[in-house]
Amino acid sequence: MKIIDGKQLAQNLRGEIAAGVESLKSEKGVTPGLAVILVGDNPASVSYVTAKEKACREAGMLSREIRLPAETTEAELVSLVKELNEDPAIHGILVQLPVPKHISDKAVIDAIAPEKDVDGFTPVNVGRMMIGERCFLPCTPHGIIKLIEFSGMDLKGKHAVVIGRSNIVGKPVAALLSRKETNATVTLCHTGTPDISKFTREADVVVVAAGRPNTLTGDMLKPGAVVIDVGVNRIPDATKPKGFRLVGDADFDSCSKVAGAITPVPGGVGPMTITMLLWNTLESARR
Ligand code: GUN
Repeated sequence: MKIIDGKQLAQNLRGEIAAGVESLKSEKGVTPGLAVILVGDNPASVSYVTAKEKACREAGMLSREIRLPAETTEAELVSLVKELNEDPAIHGILVQLPVPKHISDKAVIDAIAPEKDVDGFTPVNVGRMMIGERCFLPCTPHGIIKLIEFSGMDLKGKHAVVIGRSNIVGKPVAALLSRKETNATVTLCHTGTPDISKFTREADVVVVAAGRPNTLTGDMLKPGAVVIDVGVNRIPDATKPKGFRLVGDADFDSCSKVAGAITPVPGGVGPMTITMLLWNTLESARR
């Protein structure tokens, strides 16, 4: 059984990205700039955006960090996004989701110019991805494809089961897996699937993005399957300095006894999501 080291793969790719940033600076005088907007102080979101900003600076990019109070109105947020759309120093705009309940995430996403949508969340980018046009691929799904390739698996002709149908992960990862260039056969399971194990037992790859611990257990796997665990769940734990520990959506102990390879939480998908964000920001600056 192999642990798929997302940190290692992320580090390899970030080296390439940093080199790309350097040559863009020296050859074209352009520094890629990413604006990261956080509304409110959801602890998980604070930790995600802090990690994104740090990675951005480490890659030699400009990180514009915008923290707004939870009371910010939708109109204020939309108008900020529109200002950033016009700002030539900014090549990527990221609004950390979820936004507070009184703001429609759709209104905010729709305000982002597709050419600065480095999260790949706007309807234009999602549509382009679906029909195979050049676009910004969404970061977590793109990172997942890279992780599966890094594990050594050739996805052609393989059966991939995705658990979860969110717009951020489940739906786009199913779309990417089934693209001709990847050529996996995909089953998308969700909360309306009566018996998920019926599908996962046939799967060569399982991507679990359900947002619930223990969604996938070892008895649900075919021996040797590759498991990509997208879950980030905080479990109260008084023995930890922060008072919690992170677990994924897969039960690591039982799955790792049956799987051929598995991503850990943390240190699997998370670092790759951030890396693909940097990738898209560099690509946007190049364009
Ligand atoms: N919330 C959870 N994942 C993401 C992500 O990839 N991008 C943004 N903007 N918000 C998120």
